[in-house]
Amino acid sequence: IVLVLDFGSQYSELIARRIRETQVYSEVVSYQTSAAQIKELNPKGIILSGGPSSVYDEYAPKCDREIWNLGVPVLGVCYGMQLMVQQLGGDVRKAERGEYGKASLFIDDPTDLLTNVEDGSTMWMSHGDSCVELPSGFTTLAHTDNTPCAAIAHHDRQLYGVQFHPEVVHSIGGIALIRNFIYHICQCQPTWTTAAFVEEAIREVRAKVGDKRVLLALSGGVDSSTLAFLLHRAIGDQLTCMFIDQGFMRKYEPERLVKVFEEQFHINVEYVNARDKFLSAIANITDPEEKRRRIGHEFIRVFEEQSKRLGPFDYLAQGTLYPDVIESAGTNIDPKTGERVAVKIKSHHNVGGLPKDLQFKLVEPLRKLFKDEVRKVGRSIGLPEEIVQRQPFPGPGLAIRILGEVTAERLNILRDADLIVRQEINRHGIYNDLWQAFAVLLPIRSVGVMGDKRTYAYPIVLRFVSSEDGMTADWSRVPYDILEIISNRIVNEVKGVNRVVYDITSKPPGTIEWE
Ligand code: XMP
Repeated sequence: IVLVLDFGSQYSELIARRIRETQVYSEVVSYQTSAAQIKELNPKGIILSGGPSSVYDEYAPKCDREIWNLGVPVLGVCYGMQLMVQQLGGDVRKAERGEYGKASLFIDDPTDLLTNVEDGSTMWMSHGDSCVELPSGFTTLAHTDNTPCAAIAHHDRQLYGVQFHPEVVHSIGGIALIRNFIYHICQCQPTWTTAAFVEEAIREVRAKVGDKRVLLALSGGVDSSTLAFLLHRAIGDQLTCMFIDQGFMRKYEPERLVKVFEEQFHINVEYVNARDKFLSAIANITDPEEKRRRIGHEFIRVFEEQSKRLGPFDYLAQGTLYPDVIESAGTNIDPKTGERVAVKIKSHHNVGGLPKDLQFKLVEPLRKLFKDEVRKVGRSIGLPEEIVQRQPFPGPGLAIRILGEVTAERLNILRDADLIVRQEINRHGIYNDLWQAFAVLLPIRSVGVMGDKRTYAYPIVLRFVSSEDGMTADWSRVPYDILEIISNRIVNEVKGVNRVVYDITSKPPGTIEWE
C-alpha cells in the first residue's frame, strides 16, 4: 500500500487513482494520521498531497513530524513539498510571482525520480508560495523559469518533493515520475489487479455472510449492477435484488433492466411498482430541495415496507464507493481561522442514502474502489457494456429534470424528449464522449408557429456536459448538425414542446442538473 496524506487538495483522490493505475493499492488518509498509525499500516511509500493553505498560515494543516523518521520514502506534492521543506528546517515564502497553469520543467539531475521525464516537459503548476531555502542534505532536481526548486530530493533519506502536480493529465511525464516513485523508489510490485480484487471480494463476502440472506436495492446504475453481479457470484440465491420503480426513470429503462438481469443473467429481480406513491408524494411541490427530501423519504418508506414483505434479511448490500469513504479532514477547515466550513449545494439521494439505523448489517464490497475501477470489475465479471458505460443518473431521476411541479403529463413529455436525445447521441456515436447528455423540461410556455397555427407550449433544454468526475464540468461542443436533428425531432415528435434551447453554462457556476 502507498498512502496519500490529504491536505485538502482537490487532487488528493486523483493521486490515489494514478497510483492504482500502476496496479499498486493506494488509500487517502487525513493529514492528521499519526506516524504510529501510519507505521501500523506498513506503507511502502507516502505521498503528501497539495492543499489550499500556506505553510505559514496560523491554522495550516501539519503532519506528524515523526513521519520523516519512519524510513519510508516520501514524495511531497506542492503544499506537501513546502511542508516537508519547512518542517525539516528550510524556508518557504510567498513567491514574487505565483505560477498557475503550464510551465516547462528543466531537469538538473535526471536521477531516480526524474528518469524518463524529458527535459523541458510541460508540468501543471498551481502555487503562490515557493521554497527559497532547502533543508540540509537536499538538492535541486529540476527548475522552471519562475521556480528555482521545482523538484527536490534528499537521496539518502528517500525524501522527495515536487512543486508541480504530476497527477494531472496536463503534466506530460507526470505519470512517468509517479511510476519512478512507486516502482523504483518504493519498490512496489504491481499486484492490485481486477482479477485479484474480484477473487478477494468474493472470498470476503462468503466468509462474512455465511448462509445468511442479503438484500440489495438495485438502481440500474453501474455500481449497484456490479454489486449485484459480484454478490450473485459469491452467494447465488441468498441474494435478493429489489428494484423500486419510482416512476422517474428514462423511457423503457425499468423494463430493460429487469429483462437483462432475469433473462440474460438469471438473476431474479423483485420489481416494485411504486410510481403512484412517489408521484403523489411530490404532488404540487415546486421547491427543489423539498422535492428531493420527499423522494428520499418515500424511498425509505417503500424500502422498509418491501424488505419486510420479502424478508427477513440479515444483510443489506450497499454500493458504497471509495470516494464516499475517504475521510478528508483538510478540505473543510479554513486555514486562516481554523474553523470548519461545510457547504451543501444539493441534498443527494440515491439507493445508498438509507438511514444508518435500519436493522441490517452492511455488506459493501466495493468500498475500496474508484468509479473507473468499478467499471473494470463490472466488465470483468460479465456486466453488459450498456450498463458498464451508462452515464450517471441522479437518484431522484427525471423528477429533478422537470422544473416546478411534476405531473404524469410532464413526465411523459420529458421521457419522450429524453429518448430522442439518447437515440441521436447513440446513433452519432458520441455517447461515450459525454459525461451526461439529457433533456430538462421548463414549466413555462412560449409562443411558436407550426403549419399556420400558433402554438403555446413548453421549452426543452438540452444539457450536454463533459466532465472527469461531476465535480466540475464544461458544456459540450456538440456539432450543430446533431443539435439540429435533435431539436427538429423533439419539436415534431413530442406533443407539448415547441422550442429547444442549448445550455452553455459550465459548472461552476452552474450545476449539471437544473435542480
Ligand atoms: P450537480 O447537479 O450537483 O450534479 O452538478 C453532479 C452529479 O451528480 C449527479 N446527481 C445526483 N446523483 N443522487 C445521485 O445519485 C442525486 O440526488 C443527484 N443529484 C445530482 C448529477 O447527475 C451529476 O452527475
